[in-house]
Amino acid sequence: MAPLMFSLRFLFFLLFLISTQSLAQPPDFRGIWCFNDKDNYTTNSTYQTNLNTLLSSLSSPSNNGNGYGFYNSSYGENPDQVYAIGLCRGDVTVDICRGYLSNATQLLTQSCPNQKEAFSIFDKCTLRYANRSIYGAMETVPNLMWYNVQNVSSDVDGFFQELRTLLEDLRGQAAGNGSLRKFAIGTATAPNFQTIYGLAQCTPDLTEQVCSDCLGSSLADIPECCQGKEGARISKPSCDVRYEIYRYFDPTTVRPLPSPPPSTSTGGSKSNRSRTVIIIVVPIVVSVVLIVIFFFICLRVRTKKKLETRKLIPGGDDTYEIGFAESLQFDLATIRVSTDDFSKANKLGKGGFGSV
Ligand SMILES: *[C@@H]1O[C@H](CO)[C@@H](O)[C@H](O)[C@H]1NC(C)=O
Ligand SMILES: *[C@@H]1O[C@H](CO)[C@@H](O)[C@H](O)[C@H]1NC(C)=O
Ligand SMILES: *[C@@H]1O[C@H](CO)[C@@H](O)[C@H](O)[C@H]1NC(C)=O
Ligand SMILES: *[C@@H]1O[C@H](CO)[C@@H](O)[C@H](O)[C@H]1NC(C)=O
Ligand SMILES: *[C@@H]1O[C@H](CO)[C@@H](O)[C@H](O)[C@H]1NC(C)=O
Ligand SMILES: *[C@@H]1O[C@H](CO)[C@@H](O)[C@H](O)[C@H]1NC(C)=O
Ligand SMILES: *[C@@H]1O[C@H](CO)[C@@H](O)[C@H](O)[C@H]1NC(C)=O
Repeated sequence: MAPLMFSLRFLFFLLFLISTQSLAQPPDFRGIWCFNDKDNYTTNSTYQTNLNTLLSSLSSPSNNGNGYGFYNSSYGENPDQVYAIGLCRGDVTVDICRGYLSNATQLLTQSCPNQKEAFSIFDKCTLRYANRSIYGAMETVPNLMWYNVQNVSSDVDGFFQELRTLLEDLRGQAAGNGSLRKFAIGTATAPNFQTIYGLAQCTPDLTEQVCSDCLGSSLADIPECCQGKEGARISKPSCDVRYEIYRYFDPTTVRPLPSPPPSTSTGGSKSNRSRTVIIIVVPIVVSVVLIVIFFFICLRVRTKKKLETRKLIPGGDDTYEIGFAESLQFDLATIRVSTDDFSKANKLGKGGFGSV
């Protein structure tokens, strides 16, 4: 597993290098995933019309979602019905959320011009759509991870013990938060006196149990992807986990939930975590890596100077690297990734386009 993970990480790193060569992106852009293994629609088709109608209504000034940053809607008739879900981070106000979703809508439809299903991640919002009902279902593909290349300065075990306790607590809080919003933030102090700022969020359409499962699988990803790292974010369509040693959220803009909080938690069914057969993927990975290396070498000569100024090499204060996608489905998707820092200076420059 370790060599495979290494090659995935390596591939994503190379993809990133290539991806930074083109297409300007807003600074809060994190990633876009166009599902090429699902159906495509054609230009001017009913599906496209429905999609555009749906997305423009999603970010229209009259749409406040559920009032807590969650947008669920659908438009059209079978078989051209489109379903979309938008979610803003729990500390984003409704007005600002609308701006994020509007930007996300544009970028997502431009980046995935004919895929029926797509997903995008920004610093403070996610947006996805599909030709199938996605409400209430746990979606864990793609599973995207970013980590700060800076290592915890001392007592790594103590740091991660505190971190785990904090995130487990936030997991329970977020999952137990009711049907309007599932969002929890909190801090802990590591043995080296650093403050750890943690965040856990699910789309609120999930039941308490399913949200907890989703967050649990993200927590389980941390030792694999981000052990020893000072900060990380693990984003799946259904849930998000993040920690940093600096403050990136604003507790004062979290809209209070009505009390008593409405609770729909009836303990949903345990969703299966899909496992892709690695055996099939390895040869694909290898060939894709070779192709990518070839392109990289071609690109390298003319982009060398640019890359050097981007501090991709670990060492910069705010440097992030993208982790790997557990789904192993990158060969089936068009991926755009950005390794911009989440909230500090955008030292890494802009994200871009990488087509597999
Ligand atoms: C959909 O279109 C993309 C290119 O835009 C292509 O790579 C993919 O194979 C197509 N998928 C299907 C199922 O036809
Ligand atoms: C959505 O598209 C897939 C093809 O990717 C198709 O198999 C499925 O039936 C469609 N779902 C609906 C609800 O139309
Ligand atoms: C789509 O519709 C627009 C306006 O109706 C038209 O200009 C364009 O040529 C059409 N494109 C295709 C591929 O049919
Ligand atoms: C979410 O959207 C789907 C599709 O339109 C709809 O069936 C469902 O009732 C919506 N749920 C809520 C709580 O709005
Ligand atoms: C939307 O994108 C524009 C252009 O990139 C940017 O100036 C603006 O701040 C963005 N709005 C939000 C709410 O992020
Ligand atoms: C973090 O630790 C890893 C493994 O010990 C090392 O390879 C890497 O260079 C370190 N990163 C920094 C920024 O010091
Ligand atoms: C719900 O979220 C708030 C933060 O918005 C948190 O303080 C509270 O403890 C959570 N509720 C539960 C039941 O955990």
